Amino acid sequence: MDFTNKVVLITGAGRGIGREIAFSFAKLGARVAANDITPINLDPTVQQINTAGGIAADFVADISKKMPVQAMVSQILEQWERIDILINNAGVEPHAPLLELDAWDWQRTIDVNLSGPFYTTQVVGRIMREQGGGVIVNIASIAGRAHGLKDRSSYVASKMGLIGLTREAARELAEYNIRVNAVCPGVIETEMTAGLRQNEAMVAKWLEDIPQSRLGDPQDVANLVLFLCTDAAKYITGQAINVDGGKVMN
Ligand SMILES: NC(=O)c1ccc[n+]([C@@H]2O[C@H](COP(=O)([O-])OP(=O)(O)OC[C@H]3O[C@@H](n4cnc5c(N)ncnc54)[C@H](O)[C@@H]3O)[C@@H](O)[C@H]2O)c1
Repeated sequence: MDFTNKVVLITGAGRGIGREIAFSFAKLGARVAANDITPINLDPTVQQINTAGGIAADFVADISKKMPVQAMVSQILEQWERIDILINNAGVEPHAPLLELDAWDWQRTIDVNLSGPFYTTQVVGRIMREQGGGVIVNIASIAGRAHGLKDRSSYVASKMGLIGLTREAARELAEYNIRVNAVCPGVIETEMTAGLRQNEAMVAKWLEDIPQSRLGDPQDVANLVLFLCTDAAKYITGQAINVDGGKVMN
């Protein structure tokens, strides 16, 4: 795999899966436009990539709002003049029973997990159309498949919506040579799941349901994302692909 000279925008790249995706693309020669809502984790990530000989720059923006997305994309174009690959990774996951879920949390989840990818797809998609093509990967979740998750109604709804957006975008953007796919991780060892993973009984129960008997690590997800962005995947679009050790088989 070689992404030399490709410009890759990754949202939520300060930590977890997004950070691993950023490192992986940088190792393969890409110019990494790393986004996060805060510089706290983003700056060290970008610094680490550049110190290791890669090429990365930080673009702090709240992707849940259209104006910051437009401003961020303009800044990337000023610096690198193109965007070849978009990875919609930023996400939030509030936990609360449906009857107690705060309306602010509901709205925020939809804004970050679903409206954000809509804004980035629209703004970056127009650039890709002008460039003659591109690749978009949305990080959804097995929670957005038939699987579901208790006490995560806003998250499940947002990820199901993201899979729907993936399919529609793939259908409409194919004529511009833009491929759009979703990756659906199972339980991955990141800060997002750190609290839940402290519950040993819960982890044991998860492992019973995973044929490979282990949780995933961010590299497992990054590997699939990389593949989907290569020409080897040029006939794959509109798909939602699980990376979950076999937990959900549909
Ligand atoms: N960890 C898992 O088990 C798991 C499973 C399935 C899907 N996912 C999905 O993978 C993606 C990454 O998850 P993670 O585990 O690395 O999460 P994480 O919480 O460790 O990292 C998410 C990153 O997104 C950033 N972010 C949040 N809101 C943002 C916004 N409005 N604008 C820009 N950046 C924002 C955060 O600051 C953070 O750096 C998410 O979409 C998540 O839903 C994770």
